[in-house]
Amino acid sequence: MPPTGAGRRRGALQPGDQVQLTDPKGRMHTITLEAGKQFHTHKGILEHDALLGGPEGVVVAIGSTSYLALRPLLSDYVLSMPRGAQVVYPKDAGQVVQMADVFPGAHVVEAGVGSGALSMSLLRAVGDTGRLSSFERRPEFAEIAVRNVERFFGGPHPAWSVTVGDLAQALPTSQDDHDVDRVVLDMLAPWEVLDAVSAALRPGGLVCCYLATTTQLSRTVEGLREHGTFTEPQSWEALVRGWHVEGLAVRPEHRMVGHTGFLCTARRLADGVEPPVRRRRPSKGAYGEPAAEAPAPRTEPFRPDLP
Ligand SMILES: C[S@@+](CC[C@H](N)C(=O)[O-])C[C@H]1O[C@@H](n2cnc3c(N)ncnc32)[C@H](O)[C@@H]1O
Repeated sequence: MPPTGAGRRRGALQPGDQVQLTDPKGRMHTITLEAGKQFHTHKGILEHDALLGGPEGVVVAIGSTSYLALRPLLSDYVLSMPRGAQVVYPKDAGQVVQMADVFPGAHVVEAGVGSGALSMSLLRAVGDTGRLSSFERRPEFAEIAVRNVERFFGGPHPAWSVTVGDLAQALPTSQDDHDVDRVVLDMLAPWEVLDAVSAALRPGGLVCCYLATTTQLSRTVEGLREHGTFTEPQSWEALVRGWHVEGLAVRPEHRMVGHTGFLCTARRLADGVEPPVRRRRPSKGAYGEPAAEAPAPRTEPFRPDLP
């Protein structure tokens, strides 16, 4: 048996498969193939049967316009699927899977589910033998997520369960203590659920938070420090800059996605272990007290020392 969803990622196009049609200007339409069905645009009609049974990567004509037909990648699918809540962008989902060390067979807890975008990356990473226990407090978002995920994998994923409820209450009643390898939080206030997260994680387990603003990042990191059961948190953001490569015109794209979110991770200590003392003390003024020796205000414009 191929892993769940893998049969829909390769081979001849079958009824139920999604196909992305891209015109020469890069405009896209996504269709779900059905025998005998037609796809209409103002340019003309495409018979689904013209694609069914054949390979992807072919060019089909609608009127006088040619379209490249390919199965959407997960990153294409996520950006075009129906959304309830804002999704985790593919560049950040890749960071989560790698930096949270989500491994095949892992037991991962996720909240909230939102539109299910991150759930799909996590499900691919844990695989059919892992477990992804996802929590979402808004039932209407959970419904959208389940539809998106099942459409992508071609049916229910054996590793996935979705619980409707607030993580702080639902996690302790649904998981045994110390039974979870990774917790991934994409929600407004992760600092409010740290007791439940800490109880669920195994020693050495990891919590990864995705946060939209600096204030959320700050509260989360300080909350993890104060909790006393986690290692010193690591924080970062990922910037991805596309490049235009054409003949001698090789340069960064003029536009880029400037901001999506911040990431932060920390590991669960064993019970009763004091977090090691931080070797670098916080700088003066970091927690609001006046800095004793604040640097004098700069009057000259800053000029770097050039060699
Ligand atoms: C930005 S969305 C998540 C998007 C999702 N990661 C994706 O990629 O599609 C945040 C979600 O967290 C849910 N949420 C916020 N606080 C929660 C809590 N305490 N327990 C469960 N879900 C929560 C919200 O209802 C919302 O759907």
